Amino acid sequence: MKAHYLVAIDACAGLEALEAVRVEALGKQGRVTALLKTMGKLSPDERLVQGPAIHGLREAVTQALATRKDVLENVALEAKLAAERIDVTLPVDTLPMGSVHPVSQVMDELAEIFADLGFAVATGPEIEDDWHNFGALNIPDTHPARAMQDTFYLERPARAAGEAGTASSDDTGSAGGAAPFVLRTHTSPVQIRTMMQQKPPLRIIAPGRVYRSDWDATHTPMFHQIEGLVIDKGITLGHLKWTLETFLRAFFERDDVVLRLRPSYFPFTEPSAEVDVGFTMEKGKRVIGGDPNGPGGGWMEVLGSGMVHPKVIAACGLDPDEWQGFAFGCGIDRLAMLKYGIDDLRPVFEGDIRWLKHYGFAA
Ligand code: PHE
Repeated sequence: MKAHYLVAIDACAGLEALEAVRVEALGKQGRVTALLKTMGKLSPDERLVQGPAIHGLREAVTQALATRKDVLENVALEAKLAAERIDVTLPVDTLPMGSVHPVSQVMDELAEIFADLGFAVATGPEIEDDWHNFGALNIPDTHPARAMQDTFYLERPARAAGEAGTASSDDTGSAGGAAPFVLRTHTSPVQIRTMMQQKPPLRIIAPGRVYRSDWDATHTPMFHQIEGLVIDKGITLGHLKWTLETFLRAFFERDDVVLRLRPSYFPFTEPSAEVDVGFTMEKGKRVIGGDPNGPGGGWMEVLGSGMVHPKVIAACGLDPDEWQGFAFGCGIDRLAMLKYGIDDLRPVFEGDIRWLKHYGFAA
C-alpha cells in the first residue's frame, strides 16, 4: 500500500489530484485511516508487530503528500508569475495628451522674463467701470476708443458686475454710477488699480483678456494684452527702451532684435511711442531679429508705450512731481503669432486639436 501511494502521490500533476489521493488515504473513510482504526482490536502481540508498520505507512504517506504539495504549489506560483509578466519593451497605446495653450505658454514665458527683471504680476477685473478703463487714463468722452463699434458696453452695469465679483462702483473713486460698465478694452486700467492699491515704487506686469468689437484674420473680439508699469523716482525713456529691448530679445531668443521707437499719441502717456521690431527674411520666412535694412527686412509694430502722463499719476492720488514712470501695452496673441509663425488669429481661440497639432502645440 505504501508503494502504491508513494507512486500515486508522485504522479499527481495538480493540487486537486493530490487532495483526492490524501482523502483516499488519510480521509475519514481513507484506507490508511481504516488500518489505523484496526489497531484497537489487535492483541498486544499483534500490535507490537503491526503497529510500527501501520504508523510508518501513515508517516510516509503524510510526508510524501507534504513534499508533493510544496512542489505543486511552486509550479502553480511560477505559472502565475509567468502569466502575469509584463513585457516592458512592448509599445504602449498612447492616449491624446492635453497641453498648455500657446497663448498661455506665451503668458507664462512673459511672466518669467519680467520676473527676472523684478516685475510682479498684477491683475484686474475684465468687467471694468468707465473711470478705470477711460476716465482715470485721461481718455476724454469724445475719444474714438469709447465709440460703440469698439467697446462692449454692459446693459446692467453696477449690480451685474458686482455679482460677478468684479469691479464695483464704490471702489472706483469715480464721478458716479451713471456711466455704464464695459468689457475692458485694454489692460491699462490695471495701471490705475495698482497705483491706487500699492505704494510706489512699483514694477508690475498685467497680462490678461481684453475685448473689442473687431473680427478679421488678425483681430478677435477677445484677445490678450500684457501691460507693464514702472513708477519710481527719476525714471526716464531710457529705462523704458532698455526694458523693452531686454524683454523682446529674451522673448524672441535673439540678441540681434532691434527696436525703433516712433513718436505717437496715447492720452495716458506723454511722450508716447509706438515700438517696432526689426524683421528679416530667413529661408523665405519672416523672422524677428537681424538687420531690418537688409534685403527683405523691415519694421513691425508690436506695442504702445510712453511715460505715464502726470494727469494719470495725479488721478491715482500720487504727486507727479515726486513719482514718474513708464508704461507699455503689448498684444500677447500678436507676439505668439510672430514667434510661432501663425498667420490667422481666429483659430487660436477655436480649440481645434488639429490646429494645435499643426503648430506643434499638442502631441
Ligand atoms: N493701452 C494701449 C492700447 O491698448 C497700449 C498702451 C499701454 C500704450 C500703455 C501706452 C502705454 O493700445
